[in-house]
Amino acid sequence: MSFNKDFKWGAATASYQVEGGSYEDGKGISVWDMFCKEPDRVYNGDTGDFACDSYHRIKEDVKIIKDLGLKAYRFSLSWTRILPNGIGEINESGLKFYDMFIDELIKENIEPYITLFHWDYPYELYKKGHWLNDESSKWFEEYTEVVVKRYGDRVKNWMTINEPQVFIGLGYSLGTHAPGLKLSKFDIIRMTHNVLLSHGKAVRKIREYVENANIGFAFVCDTGIPNTTSEEDKNAAREYTFNRQSKVNDTKRYDFCFDNELWFDPVMLGKYPNWVYKNYSDNLPESLDDDLKIISENVDFMGLNIYHGKVVKSSEEGFEFIKFNAGHAVTGLDWPITSEALYWGPYFMYERYKKTIMITENGLSNKDWISIDGKVHDEGRIDFLRSYLGRLSDAIDDEIDVTGYFQWSLLDNFEWAEGYKDRFGLVYVDFETGERTKKESYYWYRDLIAGKKEL
Ligand code: GAL
Repeated sequence: MSFNKDFKWGAATASYQVEGGSYEDGKGISVWDMFCKEPDRVYNGDTGDFACDSYHRIKEDVKIIKDLGLKAYRFSLSWTRILPNGIGEINESGLKFYDMFIDELIKENIEPYITLFHWDYPYELYKKGHWLNDESSKWFEEYTEVVVKRYGDRVKNWMTINEPQVFIGLGYSLGTHAPGLKLSKFDIIRMTHNVLLSHGKAVRKIREYVENANIGFAFVCDTGIPNTTSEEDKNAAREYTFNRQSKVNDTKRYDFCFDNELWFDPVMLGKYPNWVYKNYSDNLPESLDDDLKIISENVDFMGLNIYHGKVVKSSEEGFEFIKFNAGHAVTGLDWPITSEALYWGPYFMYERYKKTIMITENGLSNKDWISIDGKVHDEGRIDFLRSYLGRLSDAIDDEIDVTGYFQWSLLDNFEWAEGYKDRFGLVYVDFETGERTKKESYYWYRDLIAGKKEL
C-alpha cells in the first residue's frame, strides 16, 4: 500500500456539531443556534445545545484521539465563542477553551488542523447582512487576526472555510440549512465573491502571523466518475467535474453552488469561469481584479471533502449520468457508495490545479447501536474505509500528490438538518449523557494507522 510514513492520518469534527455548551461562558449565538429553535427545520427538533458535550470533555476526547494513534486532528473554532458579536469585543474564556484544547493535543504529539469557519456564523453579523454585506470579508479578516495572533505560535496547519458550496447552497439558496433563506442567484454570486474574498484575506493574515504556515481550505469536491476507462468517458467525467454550466446552458439555473469551477478556479487560477463573467458581471464588484489577486493568494494544499461521486459516460451533450443498478449500496443518509470517487476526485483536481491534496473529509453515516455484548459492530464502516482508502492509495500510486486523510468523523455528532438521525463516528456517543463507546471501526482504523492492518 502506498501511504508512506509521513502520511497524515487524521479525523475531523466541527464546533457546532460536537461542542455543546452553546450558551456558556459568554459565547455569542450563531445562525445554527437560531435555526434549531425554529419548528420543523431540524429532524426531531434536535439541537447542538449539548451535542457531544466536547466543551466539557477536553481530556477525554484528546485521549480518544491519542489512543487511536492519530497524527492530526481537524476541528473548527466557534467564531462566537471568541467574538460573541462576530467583531469587536473579544471573549477571553472562549480563547482559553481552545488554548487548553490545543495545548492538550500538542502535549500528546497530535498536530492541530484548525478550520476557521465551519458554518456557525455569528447571528449579529447575520443581522448586518451576512455574506451579502461587502464588509463581510473584513469581518472575517478581523476574526482571523484575533485567532492567529493567539494560536499562531503553536498551530501551523490552517483551513479557512469549510464547504462554502453547502452553507451557501443549502443555507442561502435552497433554505434547508441555517439561516434558511432562499435568495436569488444574483445574490448568491455576490455572496460567493465575498466568501472567496474572505478566504483570501484570511490566507494573508495567517501568513502574516504564522511562521511556516501550512494553509488550505476544505471544499466539497463533487466528482465525476468515468463509467469506463475510455478517453471518451474520462472526458465526460472531466466535463461533469468542471463544466456543468455549458451542458445546461440555462441562465435560470440557480443550483450552480456545487459546480467545482465556481469555487476552485478563482482560488487556484485567479479567475472565474466564463459563465460567471457572461451571466453575472453586474453582480461582481468594481474591485474585481484586485479582489481576484487576494482570492488567489497561494495556498499550500487543497482540502477536498469527498463522500461520493456521479458515474457518467460520454454523450453528444458532453456527459450523461449512469443510473445505479437496483439495490446499489447506499449509506444511512442514502448517499450512494462510490469508492471510485476517492480516486477520480483527487485525479481531476490534481490534473487541473497541480497542487498538493489532503482529503479533509470522507466517511459513512450509519444506523449504529450498542449491541447486547456492549460493542458497536459497524462492519459496514470498516468495509467503506477499506474500499475508499484502497482507491485513494491507487491514486497515490498513480502519482497524485495526496498527503493526508481525515476521517469524518471522530465522534457521532449533530448532523445539521438531519439532527442525530444518523451516526458518522468512529466512536459512538450517547447524546443524553455524552458517554463514548469505541466502535469496531475505531480499532480497525487504529490498527491500519499503526501498520498492523492491510487494506
Ligand atoms: C460535510 C460537512 C460536515 C459533515 C459531513 C457529513 O458536508 O462538512 O460538517 O456534516 O458533511 O454530512
